[in-house]
Amino acid sequence: MKLRKGVILAGGMGTRLAPLTQVTNKHLLPVYDRPMVTYPIEKMVDAGIEEILLVTGGEFAGDFLRLLGNGKAFGIKKLHYTYQEGHGGIAAALLLAEDFADGEPMVIILGDNIFSASLEPFVQKYDAVGSGAMILLKEVKDASRFGVATVNDKRVEKIVEKPAKPESNLAVTGVYFYDRRVFEIVKKLKPSARDELEITDVNNTYIRWGQMRWAKLSGWWSDAGTFESLYRATELVRKTRLAGKKK
Ligand code: DAU
Repeated sequence: MKLRKGVILAGGMGTRLAPLTQVTNKHLLPVYDRPMVTYPIEKMVDAGIEEILLVTGGEFAGDFLRLLGNGKAFGIKKLHYTYQEGHGGIAAALLLAEDFADGEPMVIILGDNIFSASLEPFVQKYDAVGSGAMILLKEVKDASRFGVATVNDKRVEKIVEKPAKPESNLAVTGVYFYDRRVFEIVKKLKPSARDELEITDVNNTYIRWGQMRWAKLSGWWSDAGTFESLYRATELVRKTRLAGKKK
């Protein structure tokens, strides 16, 4: 089935950005000239994703409606919202998308991931098989802040979440492609040491099944969940915008 649905995960507490997140949701904070959540939205719309589910939570969830409305101003054909109670982890937030997915494959983007590349070629790559999972990897200097993948040419061998001694410099970015079986996996997960359902455990299950593909994300990529990474993302967007204006 062709990929036409996307989920943006914008729940969680944003504690690493306190006190900024005491008065608003992390994904509504500015990244240069726009609220953070609009970046993953733009990536999905540009890649031809027709229906988007926004998963959010916390005290300021209503503000997403004020910003995005029915999504038309952002080019979204159909925008849905749901609410995550608590902050049980990325995989727990994803479980809320089961009815929305209704058996179809989906692309997921973490609401604090900002990057320059188009998603279109990756959507096409996933569609060429149309089932299983696919992750996008990016070389980074500070791998121990992320899920880290060990790969050989074709296969991902394993992913370790925030390893003290990373085996590679390949971070697992917050862009994931899954088929319907993802929900079956999430329902069997046990909470990690940080008491969350981990997306890395979902990915390792697909790896064990031999159904995980990967690609390298081109261009620049940054998360924006810490002061340093938010600042970095802002700088990267600014540079890209100014370079675009000069042309
Ligand atoms: O940015 C990529 C990294 O994101 C990956 O390399 C890691 O494997 C993955 O675990 C994740 O790491 P973080 O620890 O940085 O994730 P964080 O808790 O900051 O959550 C990222 C986004 O996920 C957040 O902006 C909103 C969403 N989220 C998170 C939690 C914990 C939810 O929607 N609900 C949640 O309960």
